[in-house]
Amino acid sequence: MAATCAAALVVALMMVSWAAVLAAASLDTSPVPFQAGFMPLFGGDNLVRSPDGRSVRLKLDRRTGSGFVSKSAYHHGYFSASIKLPDDHTAGVVVAFYLSNGDVFPRNHDEVDFELLGNRRGHEWRVQTNIYGNGSTSRGREERYLLPFDPTLRHHAYAVAWTPTAIVFYIDGTPIREVVRVPAMAGDFPSKPMSVYATIWDGSAWATEGGRYKVDYAHAPFAADFSKLVLSGCPAAVGVGGGGGGARCAVAVMTAEFAVMTPAKRAAMRRFRRRHLLYTVCHDRVRYNGTVLPECDDADGSERDDFHRWGESKRVSHSRRGYRQPQQLQREDKDAAGGRPSTWPIGSLRAD
Ligand SMILES: *[C@@H]1O[C@H](CO)[C@@H](O)[C@H](O)[C@H]1NC(C)=O
Ligand SMILES: *[C@@H]1O[C@H](CO)[C@@H](O)[C@H](O)[C@H]1NC(C)=O
Repeated sequence: MAATCAAALVVALMMVSWAAVLAAASLDTSPVPFQAGFMPLFGGDNLVRSPDGRSVRLKLDRRTGSGFVSKSAYHHGYFSASIKLPDDHTAGVVVAFYLSNGDVFPRNHDEVDFELLGNRRGHEWRVQTNIYGNGSTSRGREERYLLPFDPTLRHHAYAVAWTPTAIVFYIDGTPIREVVRVPAMAGDFPSKPMSVYATIWDGSAWATEGGRYKVDYAHAPFAADFSKLVLSGCPAAVGVGGGGGGARCAVAVMTAEFAVMTPAKRAAMRRFRRRHLLYTVCHDRVRYNGTVLPECDDADGSERDDFHRWGESKRVSHSRRGYRQPQQLQREDKDAAGGRPSTWPIGSLRAD
């Protein structure tokens, strides 16, 4: 009996792993050239492609910001960009990497955001994540974090894994936030196809200390460099009915490595959050009148004591000055990046 069970288990496991292998084979998480997956959105010549077509610089100056968008919309998938942020005085500057369908559904759009918020000279960039579903803009689901590195020295990967059951935000392969879909979220969980966007813009009204510090154009242009663009999703055009292609792709997304939260990944996420999470809507008891959003569960209670009742961390402070990395390390970091100059040689760039 036990032997039969074991044999059945082995067969079942083999089937599962074969399914996973077959499914995974259909999802390619390697970076695509800009032209293959994206097109300019706004900003004219403030969007500059690298000579090899694999990287893009987005600039913000007095005239305009800039941005690009994926050519396709996707129904779930994994989307990543390696971004190097402008340094020096960047108060009010917002660099965003996000999914949205606001152009198709202006009244009930879905959105999944990474927003990188600039700061005054010597103060750290902060990262904000957020989601909206079906126009739930009155229920912001923000979290804010400090970064464990200086994001202006080299590229770091910011990624979103979006499946029918969860959304996971990653920085450099470390999960930093997991939003698990629960029935009570209803339409608030993003569920319609979205396009992938990257933009730089003037967020003077709110980005830095609630709008206290505005963009200072004496420091313009502000340039954010994007590379290693990954579009690993189910193109919306395939449709869920379309010969099973959509359903197969959804399975591929749900079984892919980026979607599976192993115990090791959960531990890494907890570590990151203990050290870098500044604010989370999930511990904010003031904002929504004493209630918390339905997906917020701190099952093991490991985070609760670390937060004030308005959601701000007691452990992590945004008044800390500068980056913790000593200067020496920063220099080594720069060298390790291949001696690449911090600004591209302008002569070799071409704006299309
Ligand atoms: C999404 O919004 C539309 C329009 O407001 C509404 O008709 C629909 O029922 C909503 N869907 C969900 C799942 O809440
Ligand atoms: C907030 O909670 C108070 C006390 O429970 C209640 O009287 C009030 O109507 C609530 N306000 C909203 C906007 O839900």
